Amino acid sequence: MRISILSSVLLCISVFSLIHTPAFAIKKSYIVYLGSHSHGSDPTSADQKRATDSHHEFLGSFLRCKEKAKQSIFYSYNKHINGFAATLEEKEAEEIAKHPQVISIFENKIRQLHTTRSWDFLGLEKGSDVPLNSLWKKASFGDGIIIGNIDTGIWPESESFSDEGMGPVPSRWRGICQSGMTEEGLHDGIKCNRKLIGIRYFSKGAEEKIRSSNMTLPSMYSLLTARDFNGHGTHTLSTAGGNFVANVSVLGYGNGTAKGGSPQARVAAYKACWQEAPNGCTDADIIAAIEAAISDGVDVISSSLGDQQVEYFDNGAAIGAIHAMMRGIPVVASAGNDGPTPSSILNTAPWILTVGASTIDREFVSYVTLGNGKLLQGASLSSIGLPPQTFYPLIMGADVRMPDASPEDANHCSNFKLIDREKLEGKLLVCIVKQENPTTQTSSLQEADDTDMPQVRYGIIMVSDEEIGNDVRAELMSLPISHINFTDGESLFAYINSTKNPVAHITNAKTEFNTKPAPMVARFSSRGPCKLEPNIIKPDITAPGVNIIAANLGDPNFPYKTNSGTSMSCPHVAGIVGLLKTLHPDWTPSAIKSAIMTTATTEDTSSCPIVDLNNKEATPFDYGSGHVRPDLAADPGLVYDLTVGDYLNFLCTRGYNETAISLFYSGQPFVCPKTFSLADFNYPSIAVANLSDSVTITRRLKNVGEPGTYKVSVQELAGVLVQVEPESLTFGKQGEEHTFKVVLKRNDNVQLGRYVFGGLTWSDGSHHVRSPIAVKL
Ligand SMILES: *[C@@H]1O[C@H](CO)[C@@H](O)[C@H](O)[C@H]1NC(C)=O
Ligand SMILES: *[C@@H]1O[C@H](CO)[C@@H](O)[C@H](O)[C@H]1NC(C)=O
Ligand SMILES: *[C@@H]1O[C@H](CO)[C@@H](O)[C@H](O)[C@H]1NC(C)=O
Ligand SMILES: *[C@@H]1O[C@H](CO)[C@@H](O)[C@H](O)[C@H]1NC(C)=O
Ligand SMILES: *[C@@H]1O[C@H](CO)[C@@H](O)[C@H](O)[C@H]1NC(C)=O
Ligand SMILES: *[C@@H]1O[C@H](CO)[C@@H](O)[C@H](O)[C@H]1NC(C)=O
Ligand SMILES: *[C@@H]1O[C@H](CO)[C@@H](O)[C@H](O)[C@H]1NC(C)=O
Repeated sequence: MRISILSSVLLCISVFSLIHTPAFAIKKSYIVYLGSHSHGSDPTSADQKRATDSHHEFLGSFLRCKEKAKQSIFYSYNKHINGFAATLEEKEAEEIAKHPQVISIFENKIRQLHTTRSWDFLGLEKGSDVPLNSLWKKASFGDGIIIGNIDTGIWPESESFSDEGMGPVPSRWRGICQSGMTEEGLHDGIKCNRKLIGIRYFSKGAEEKIRSSNMTLPSMYSLLTARDFNGHGTHTLSTAGGNFVANVSVLGYGNGTAKGGSPQARVAAYKACWQEAPNGCTDADIIAAIEAAISDGVDVISSSLGDQQVEYFDNGAAIGAIHAMMRGIPVVASAGNDGPTPSSILNTAPWILTVGASTIDREFVSYVTLGNGKLLQGASLSSIGLPPQTFYPLIMGADVRMPDASPEDANHCSNFKLIDREKLEGKLLVCIVKQENPTTQTSSLQEADDTDMPQVRYGIIMVSDEEIGNDVRAELMSLPISHINFTDGESLFAYINSTKNPVAHITNAKTEFNTKPAPMVARFSSRGPCKLEPNIIKPDITAPGVNIIAANLGDPNFPYKTNSGTSMSCPHVAGIVGLLKTLHPDWTPSAIKSAIMTTATTEDTSSCPIVDLNNKEATPFDYGSGHVRPDLAADPGLVYDLTVGDYLNFLCTRGYNETAISLFYSGQPFVCPKTFSLADFNYPSIAVANLSDSVTITRRLKNVGEPGTYKVSVQELAGVLVQVEPESLTFGKQGEEHTFKVVLKRNDNVQLGRYVFGGLTWSDGSHHVRSPIAVKL
């Protein structure tokens, strides 16, 4: 038996050999983005054929041959998104870019991929009860909703995708169940049911990348299956919409009933991410997957993969998301795992709901006792500890390294092949966890986990380095392991230095509940401000993303596993969006987003401000509007809605000209408003990236609740005078809208160049509609 945990956040497995073969021409794959089709939202097959033909004609006019164009185009997006993916020479791409019908052309790039307790923590359940006021009850657990997931595919046999208790597949569903091949060329066994109603895979973009980079695949069938060999897609989709599975635990920890955010929802898996040669998801495949999801009829899209910090229309995920939004489908995406570096945030388009990651109040702990009696608390999901009262000698990697390994690398255990495992017998290996890519290191650690050995013969103590500080992860391993923080690491090293024969003991791991403080912002969660558009706060929201238990690949011993990342927090919010759509089918994606953001909390379970892992008070650049509160999001009172027109105005502020915007708008003429600025973009949070003296912000609130009068209160920003006009708004029936202005004026003699934070809240006494404000002085 061997536990294999693949990397939780990135696809960083390279199990195949790269054999170099000669390339023939310097061609690259590109996306040519042409906006929207002029056919309606429900294209016939004749419409689609016409669109594809027009793509052949269009490219043919550049290549002087339609046949050549047909060969070069590997995706024709002919349903909702207008454009195609093709292999082209750079010269050709440059020519095409000049054409007035082209909104953008960009290289097909590889984008990275980024249980049970968490729903209790979010208030949807109380122990094994579901409170009456829970959004779960109100929204029938997401019954009737279809959640699509763009990811690494699916392990359909997981119990989380059992269709027990589900009615017939909704008749509006137009998706398919695409089976494929195993590595050996046999049927891959992919099947759908009344829960998992759609499965597709998209690999032409990946194939182009492989071709152009001289890689070879492990098998000619490798890109022909939606089966998930990484685990990421199965974990995320079961988090968003997994069915109830009783008595789930990881090696007995975190014991409970596993379920997704919308447990009665239908789910559909769109595999666009491949651990095979390109090691990620290409723009071309992402666009194809989102286009299919829109066309199949999903209600929510969850996308736990990274875009890059590139302009919105040079980016497959953002292009796909805006077309989904225009069809009323909310897109929820992960913020990225590059925190705590400022401005590391990804998926920042304003039409995306961008989700950061935070901890929950459950920890998996094991204790390290040093020979001097000192007790240190670490994180672990190890099935075993050392026998009681036994102390093993502590050794550093450098002391047991292979002859060709450097002491530094060995101390970091950055690759377990650097360690002479024979010498580990009866010892506890101390490994220093480094900043860069703790995930890779973790995967390498899995190599240590050789459970073919009859008994445990060694253990591992992982120590965070100074930079990582308090970020400790519970690793699922079958040998004694504990991950301690930097300060405790200092005690450990001081002890090692103080004695000739340092020893320690590791206890069995156990689950602790109601740990405090919680939530905390996860260290890895990517941070704002957003580089691309600093006048919008990103992330939008934070949700549980640390040590989340959800479905695993078909290992009978480990049907569930823990994972950490914004990839895990994203499907939590996608599940909640599913519930809100069930409850309010008429709300726009922006109204749902507003409801989630304005009802979020900035306080932890002890009513103290949410902190990060360094106990520093978190800001909107860490958690956006705060930590999600699904029950309150069901009834926000008011929303900041955004229409398609608002988004077109936004595109004007980004410098897209009217020709491009009208192409995007199905060819309808569009005129950018003369006076519109980003200060008037009706976003549910407020950011001013450069407050030179004073600025006036306009916002528009829409009533989605009872009639009533709302009064504003302001949470002060240091050094800024905030005036709201009017201070009171009275709403009649549902749908009634009112605008208000916020004047932000910088005080004299303030220190410039730094951000200050505050907020404003509209309240009728029972609803509290809060927007964070971030201002750079
Ligand atoms: C592919 O191989 C050819 C010939 O060996 C080489 O010239 C080319 O640079 C390689 N391309 C890449 C992307 O490695
Ligand atoms: C918009 O941009 C395109 C391509 O950059 C250009 O050809 C066109 O003339 C521009 N249109 C206007 C109205 O500026
Ligand atoms: C839950 O799982 C444990 C361990 O697999 C098993 O011993 C126990 O009987 C199960 N309980 C129920 C209620 O199924
Ligand atoms: C799991 O939970 C069940 C029911 O609450 C309990 O009886 C059982 O002992 C638990 N198992 C473990 C391994 O904690
Ligand atoms: C490190 O972990 C210990 C638990 O052993 C905890 O008491 C301490 O506060 C942590 N260090 C910091 C800086 O938070
Ligand atoms: C332990 O000793 C090493 C080298 O002898 C030194 O670099 C390190 O700072 C010491 N650590 C502590 C915590 O005293
Ligand atoms: C901020 O605005 C002022 C005045 O509008 C301008 O001079 C300055 O360059 C701007 N600074 C930045 C960083 O955009």
